[in-house]
Amino acid sequence: MSGWLKIAGLGPGDEALITPEVTQALAEATDIVGYIPYVARVAPRDGLVLHASDNRVEIDRSRHALEMAAAGRRVVVVSSGDPGVFAMAAAVFEALEAGPDAWRNLDICVLPGITAMLAAAARAGAPLGHDFCAINLSDNLKPWALIEKRLRLAAEADFAMAFYNPRSKSRPEGFTRTLEILRDACGPDRLILFARAVSTDQEILRVTTLGAAVPEMADMRTVVIVGSSLTRVIERDGAPIVYTPRSVAG
Ligand SMILES: C[S@@+](CC[C@H](N)C(=O)[O-])C[C@H]1O[C@@H](n2cnc3c(N)ncnc32)[C@H](O)[C@@H]1O
Repeated sequence: MSGWLKIAGLGPGDEALITPEVTQALAEATDIVGYIPYVARVAPRDGLVLHASDNRVEIDRSRHALEMAAAGRRVVVVSSGDPGVFAMAAAVFEALEAGPDAWRNLDICVLPGITAMLAAAARAGAPLGHDFCAINLSDNLKPWALIEKRLRLAAEADFAMAFYNPRSKSRPEGFTRTLEILRDACGPDRLILFARAVSTDQEILRVTTLGAAVPEMADMRTVVIVGSSLTRVIERDGAPIVYTPRSVAG
């Protein structure tokens, strides 16, 4: 049997948010490859080999997956959320581009998933209802100066913004600086949403303003959404609705 490689998104956490085509790929796979907590989300079964690895070895993991597919295995590389959003799909294609020519003709495809910012936005209402951008706040793979430049330009362009990897124990200062830049560019009344562990039983949603936000509201399980100047709140009993209108006056 000829091998294949599917790069699949497991969604934000809830099994109900995994697409049927990802479920089918997992059922047909011989091998699952990915970061330890994501591989742990795949139920073990006879005939399925789980290859869990640390999150700093994306290219090694990608090569391993490509080698196995070339050897005839049916391999699924798993990411949380969507595999094309700050995740494994780009890493696999980097390894493919640098690898042997034979890999280029492999049967390989990307199966989308629900990314964290969309799951979080849906919980809150529709804060990404007009133009928006997504920025990874980790400076592991790019210089911090570039992140600051993108933050300032996104604020100037009045995008709503979604921030992934906002704050880790090893780089707590970056998100503090992010809040300073945004307060300076957008003012203290701008809405900010902290959505932690969306669609899991540890989910926490917090809607506040840049003026009231503190860095400790974010961690590596949080996606942060900052509204545009038009983003607003509908107060009601229970959680408020946050949305950005569909149109901007000419
Ligand atoms: C390396 S990125 C991977 C993003 C993933 N590929 C996606 O599409 O959601 C990891 C970051 O995604 C965000 N994230 C992933 N799952 C989340 C969830 N269930 N709730 C909130 N944020 C989440 C957090 O910002 C986390 O630091």
